[in-house]
Amino acid sequence: MDFSASPEYQLNPFPYYERMRETAPVYYDEQSGSWHVFRYDDVQRALSEYATFSSHMGGDDASGTGQLFSLSLIATDPPRHRQLRSLVTQAFTPKAVDALAPRIAGLTDELLEGIADRGSADLIKALAYPLPVIVISELMGIPAQDRERFKRWSDVIVSQTRAGSASEDHTAANMEMTEYFLALIDERRSRPGQDLISTLLAAEIDGQKLTVPELLGFCALLLVAGNETTTNLIGNAVLCLAENPGTMERLLREPALIPQTIEEVLRFRSPVQSMYRLTVAETTLGDEVIPAGAPIVAWIGSANRDERQFQRPAEFDVDRGHNRHLAFGHGIHFCLGAPLARLEARIVLEALLARLPGLSLEQGVHLERMDSTIVYGVKALLVSWQP
Ligand code: HEM
Repeated sequence: MDFSASPEYQLNPFPYYERMRETAPVYYDEQSGSWHVFRYDDVQRALSEYATFSSHMGGDDASGTGQLFSLSLIATDPPRHRQLRSLVTQAFTPKAVDALAPRIAGLTDELLEGIADRGSADLIKALAYPLPVIVISELMGIPAQDRERFKRWSDVIVSQTRAGSASEDHTAANMEMTEYFLALIDERRSRPGQDLISTLLAAEIDGQKLTVPELLGFCALLLVAGNETTTNLIGNAVLCLAENPGTMERLLREPALIPQTIEEVLRFRSPVQSMYRLTVAETTLGDEVIPAGAPIVAWIGSANRDERQFQRPAEFDVDRGHNRHLAFGHGIHFCLGAPLARLEARIVLEALLARLPGLSLEQGVHLERMDSTIVYGVKALLVSWQP
């Protein structure tokens, strides 16, 4: 099955998911040797039953070949996972994150100030991309002048479409990023600050400091996990609202509906469409018996459109109750950055509604999906408004 087949599929994989949920909900792909899972209940199990579905995909050296994350919490199983996660939970609680609201609102205003008079812009470039990069860079204490490089690195890294396939660009980006973080870690070791990297350097688990590969994995994970995903949540939210002008009008009158609108965007156009697992024992999913050691692709984007879980799943409906989408995962690996992503998206939508009246997509512009089958969002989002 070739996921990169057609541009229509790229932007609208949802009819394909629907067909798979009906005809082959747990599907073995001979070409890649992996099992693809499409229904909500099965995806939820694959994401959360860590004793059977491991997050550790192998590759324990953090040296250059696309394995930077292999020692980070997203690729670790209990008990190590809990230990690593406990080092950073404090920084990402809703309370800690809420304290960032004034700074995020200030940054959003600054970025919009630059375009508000123009009447049109690419919202990805002007706002959705830079905002999350600045926020996470500030949390990690990354100097402002270094941020541009991250765009390239994380673009290359998320464009990797299959586990284990590392292009030359991908390897080079990993190596550059590794060198960059090694230097930054050294610098922070000699001059600690209030940032997350300094926190991780000081942290101990059972009297042991994190190893350098573990520190690198953490840095890379925070940087990549936090950026493209939030960029796409913002971009996808604007797309959904542009397609539903009635909802946009309502939000202007009732801004209290913005949080549930963001949840519906997360369900309807999930920024992360799939996650990987590896079976550690033989198991049954749906009608299929899956052997131990099998790679699993859990299609979050399909689970979030499963008619067994959601009524009228193909409709964008902000009044949906019980929106138990899996966009941030489920269980012990539930997205650490969810409160931050939600906060950034809320502040941005409030600002867009207030400052760019009559926001709509530029007519006749061709939307193009980012080069990834995992991350879902558009490369550019040309919009116009009444300045
Ligand atoms: C985990 C999605 C934003 C950091 C995850 C997982 C998903 C996800 C699906 C689960 C992975 C798994 O089960 O294997 C998203 C989406 C985001 C977003 C859709 C934005 C809309 C962020 C942000 C940060 C972040 C802003 C950090 C600043 C992480 C980390 C994990 C994670 C560290 C690993 C947690 C663990 O393994 O315990 N995210 N994420 N994410 N996310 Fe996010």
